[in-house]
Amino acid sequence: MTLVEIQDGIAWLKINREEKLNALNKALLSELNERFAAFKADPNVKVIVLTGSGSKAFVAGADITEFSSFNKLEGRELSQHGNEKVFNFIEKIGKPVIAAINGYALGGGLELAMSCQIRIAATHAKMGLPEVSLGIIPGYGGTQRLPQLIGKGNAMEMILTGNMIDAKRALELGLVTHVVDGEELLSKAASIAGNLLKNSPNALNNAIAAVNAADQTTAGFNLEMDQFSNCFGTEEFKEGVQAFLEKRKPNF
Ligand code: COA
Repeated sequence: MTLVEIQDGIAWLKINREEKLNALNKALLSELNERFAAFKADPNVKVIVLTGSGSKAFVAGADITEFSSFNKLEGRELSQHGNEKVFNFIEKIGKPVIAAINGYALGGGLELAMSCQIRIAATHAKMGLPEVSLGIIPGYGGTQRLPQLIGKGNAMEMILTGNMIDAKRALELGLVTHVVDGEELLSKAASIAGNLLKNSPNALNNAIAAVNAADQTTAGFNLEMDQFSNCFGTEEFKEGVQAFLEKRKPNF
């Protein structure tokens, strides 16, 4: 479900589940974990570029069909496992990861991009944390990383409305640092990666750790996991996911 090519110090990683808009199911998360662990260990990999297959989606979130019947405990495990194996792992990987957002980055998809060190987007990309429309909240660090990136007020509005923003607005807010046409997205990523490759890998590793320390609050991340799991198994959760699966609007 992922494609990898390593060339001249850059690992190009593409999430390849286009028919489901690259939604993150369990198998995909564990594959991502293996891929990133291998990149971390490989001295030939200096920079990683993460993108989605097709032009429609980067990642349209966690796979809703997979967690639709989860109870609180399963909800907590989903969040904890994903955070440990993928999201926090990427944030602390010690090598720059560039998220090249080639379309929808929603829910876990935006959280995945926010775990990366650098984010760039295609003009047509759309970003959002729509979890509340499903009766849950972001569970992969979204409530923590979004305010860090765009400020509490903007993050609160995005999380509480669940609305998507376009790439232009994401650039204004500082959620991404560059917006280019879809066809130029990977060459822009290559150009940023080229700049990074000129620098000391050891210094990049230490810089990432130091920048992360500026706003890391373990308590916030832990609380998010509790709040996330509290939503599972509730009537509103059941209505939210059922409505998605039945392709209708939820009635809370
Ligand atoms: N989990 C599981 N399947 C998903 C998915 C997700 N997060 N996002 C999209 N899909 C699936 C759809 O169910 C559909 O599958 P099908 O063809 O078997 O019916 C396929 O991907 C294509 O998506 P579809 O909804 O038909 O495309 P669209 O262009 O009408 O809408 C989106 C695109 C992104 C607006 C819509 O797919 C969506 O809202 N996805 C969920 C986003 C979300 O809530 N993410 C947070 C999850 S926590």
